[in-house]
Amino acid sequence: MSARIYLDHNATTPISDDVRTHLLEWVQHWGNPSSIHDAGRGPKALLRESRDRIAKLVGASALELIFTAGGSEANNLAIKGVFETQEKLGRRGVAIRTRYIFSEVEHPSILRTAEYLRERGAKVDFVRVSLEGRIDLDQYAKLLGPDVALVSVMIANNETGTLFPIREMAEMAHAHGALFHTDGVQALGKIPVDVRELGVDLASFAGHKFYSLKGAGFLYSRRGVTLESLIHGGGQERHRRGGTENALAIAALGLMASQKDLIAVKAEDMRTLRDHFETRVLAEIPFSRVTAGDSPRLPNTSSLVIPGVDGEILLMNLDIKGFAVSTGAACSSGSPEPSPTLLAMGLTRSEAQSSLRVGLGWSTTREQVDQFIEALIEVVAHLRTLGGFDLSSGKESHVHS
Ligand SMILES: Cc1ncc(COP(=O)(O)O)c(C=O)c1O
Repeated sequence: MSARIYLDHNATTPISDDVRTHLLEWVQHWGNPSSIHDAGRGPKALLRESRDRIAKLVGASALELIFTAGGSEANNLAIKGVFETQEKLGRRGVAIRTRYIFSEVEHPSILRTAEYLRERGAKVDFVRVSLEGRIDLDQYAKLLGPDVALVSVMIANNETGTLFPIREMAEMAHAHGALFHTDGVQALGKIPVDVRELGVDLASFAGHKFYSLKGAGFLYSRRGVTLESLIHGGGQERHRRGGTENALAIAALGLMASQKDLIAVKAEDMRTLRDHFETRVLAEIPFSRVTAGDSPRLPNTSSLVIPGVDGEILLMNLDIKGFAVSTGAACSSGSPEPSPTLLAMGLTRSEAQSSLRVGLGWSTTREQVDQFIEALIEVVAHLRTLGGFDLSSGKESHVHS
């Protein structure tokens, strides 16, 4: 195996060639965008142009974007920003909303923030997601009420790629006067996203999942939504997020945003490859399954259950052979615990520990996918033999420690 093959685009994406070729030009604009003198003009113009392009990318207007350091910060800002706004009103004697609703399969930057709200005295509820990847809309309808301040449900799940009915859920929240936030981090660059079509009030995104740099993301905050800021400082981002902007990373995201029209085309290319991949895997690896395979999904993501192998060991063997994939969310890999998302959906511990996530990207080729399938078949067969997997019954013996 010569070149390494990267199939973990849900963890992060490579930096696009276009971005790479512009980096040296952008670093000329090293000034502080807030400076009034000449050194500030270049970065200020770069920021303005990028903000316009990024706003167009998601169907927002430029002033509705708040640049952040990435997706986690945008998620924190949305949720804590609404919570602190409510708290402030409460201190003034205004009757406030005290309940927050999330799905059970949100990213840790949402789930940990939900825990934090609970510690601060808020009521927090979670909507179930089924084994098939469907969110329980009946339960959601019952949870909604006049005390709900905010609902936060992701557009697409990072591990299984399942898509949730955001437009419908936002309408339901609005009928009760609640705000609706969506984590769009995994959706950006994989499917077209338009915040107005979705009808959301707040939406989070990160540049490093969209072929640009780490260190820049943004929160869409619909005009009229009041958010208490998390980072108090200078007047940047219209006083909503203090700190000198990361103009370089924002410019990179802005350049990718100008390729908006490519997204639908790339989505179809990835879907064709993903379907080819899954068809071969299901046919050639006995007892393998695709989690939530029949649910609406991102076109690039496959979450496989391969009984008889441990996901971490499989991943390490594939890494040695030159393939980068994951067992779930990158931030939790290395942990012996199976994915909380897969467990929440109802997979058994054993199934969750036998899971592998494959995330295709814009530059993934059919040859790469075929090379990966060959390696996967070989490694799975080897590990199954070592583990004493019974190929006639599909029964595993002591695979997981
Ligand atoms: C769905 C989702 N939300 C949020 C994040 C966090 O984004 P960041 O790494 O930019 O903080 C991730 C990253 O994996 C993600 O997949």
